[in-house]
Amino acid sequence: GGGIVIAIDGPSGSGKSSTSRGVARRLGLRYLDTGAQYRAMTWWMLEHGVDLADGEAVAAASLLPRLASATDPDGYGITVDGRVLVDEIRTGAVDAAVSKVAGVRAVRTRLIEAQRECVRTAVAEGVGIVVEGRDIAEVVWPIAPVKVYLTADQAVRAARREAEHAGAGRGTEAAATLAELARRDAEDAKTTRPLDAAPGAVVVDGTHLSLDEVVEEIVRLAKGQ
Ligand code: C5P
Repeated sequence: GGGIVIAIDGPSGSGKSSTSRGVARRLGLRYLDTGAQYRAMTWWMLEHGVDLADGEAVAAASLLPRLASATDPDGYGITVDGRVLVDEIRTGAVDAAVSKVAGVRAVRTRLIEAQRECVRTAVAEGVGIVVEGRDIAEVVWPIAPVKVYLTADQAVRAARREAEHAGAGRGTEAAATLAELARRDAEDAKTTRPLDAAPGAVVVDGTHLSLDEVVEEIVRLAKGQ
C-alpha cells in the first residue's frame, strides 16, 4: 500500500542491497541504502585527511560534506559535494575505516536525521520506501510495519561478497573476505547490533535461498500488512 515502510537490517554481506532493491522494484517503492551514507561519509574523511583516531575531529568534519542519496532502486547511490560516488565507496580502504566513522555519535546523529527525513517524505508522498542498514528497525524507524532481519551463514556471505568483488575487478582471497566480514561485524557490534534481530523483526535466512526467493518472501510479508 501507499506509504509503507519496510526496514531491512542484517550483517555485512547478507545480500541486503540486492534484496532491498528487488523488493522496492517489485512493490514500486523508493529505496534508501544507509550503509552507502556511512561509506560516503568515510570516503569524504579519507579524501580530506581527517584523523579517524580523533573522535572530535571526525565529529566536527561530519558536518561538512553535502550528501544526497538517490532513492530510486535503479539509481546510483549517493552524491557527495556534487560528485556521484559508485565504486569509490566500495574500496578496501573504506571497508576498513567505515565502522570507526560510524561509531562516532555526531556522524550517526546527522545521518539518522537525514534518513528519517527521507522516510517522512516518502510516507507523506504516499510512495513508501525500503530502508536497509543495521539499526533501521531498532533506531531509525521503529514504527516500520514491516521489519526484516536478513542473514545467511558466514561462509555463504563471504562467497557472495567474493563474487561481487570479482565482478568489480577487485580480486581478493575467499578466506580474507570471510575474515574481513567477521571483523566488520565485530567492530559494528560496538555501535549497532548487526548479529541480532530487532524486536518484532521477521528473520529471513537466505543461506539456502536465491535472491528471487528472498525478495518473494519479503514481498509476501509486505502484502500481508
Ligand atoms: O551495509 P554496508 O556494509 O554498506 O554498511 C557499511 C557500514 O556502515 C557498516 O559496516 C556499518 O559500519 C555502517 N552502518 C551503520 N548503520 C547503518 C548502516 C551501515 O553503522 N544503518
